[in-house]
Amino acid sequence: NQKKSLQGKTILITAGPTYEAIDPVRFIGNHSSGKMGFSLAEEAAKRGAKVILISGPSSLKPNHENVELHQVTSAKEMLNKVFEFYETIDIGIASAAVADYAPKVVASEKIKKNEDSFSIELIKNPDILKTMGEKKSHQFLVGFALETQNEEENAKGKLAKKNLDMIVLNSLRDEGAGFKNDTNKIKIFTKTEKLEFDLKSKENVAKDILDCIETQILK
Ligand code: C5P
Repeated sequence: NQKKSLQGKTILITAGPTYEAIDPVRFIGNHSSGKMGFSLAEEAAKRGAKVILISGPSSLKPNHENVELHQVTSAKEMLNKVFEFYETIDIGIASAAVADYAPKVVASEKIKKNEDSFSIELIKNPDILKTMGEKKSHQFLVGFALETQNEEENAKGKLAKKNLDMIVLNSLRDEGAGFKNDTNKIKIFTKTEKLEFDLKSKENVAKDILDCIETQILK
């Protein structure tokens, strides 16, 4: 019985969108499906890792017994859940599409359409991955970047600013890449390397990302 490549490792993965409540029936969200994060969770579990998957609202269900799913709704809930486990993890992968802003106040009753014009004041959400980077001790941290301009420069900037070990760039310019699609085309940056990959299914992209992480942590 051969030892699996991620046996003994605990991996935390954030996935999906976050929903930021406006009132009891409305929210600010985004189109993230959670597919990339769930694919990473399943592949890591197959390689023997214990996986803590912290996901915003998604219709997906993990189908491996080594994946422990924690469902959250907002960015603040995701942040709190991440830090329940942060000290115990070896690897953290942030694939969630966290809302950048949330309504400053959440109306306690459903807002009525009495006004012709209506605005909502938004305040910045906590940056979960950046906070993980600030508190990093032994953890290997991986982030994602979705850029529309100066993509490589911005991705490398985030690697440094968020104190990451690796960043996965997906370009919106590539047909079939990112967000709602079942396929993705990525580039991976570490502090010293750049790797480019072809367009492939998110299951296969997950394999490439985990291969790269394994190479890095074994260095
Ligand atoms: O700064 P930007 O949102 O482009 O960074 C993207 C990376 O940071 C992703 O890995 C995403 O999961 C993470 N992130 C986060 N919390 C936020 C915003 C982004 O964890 N509030």
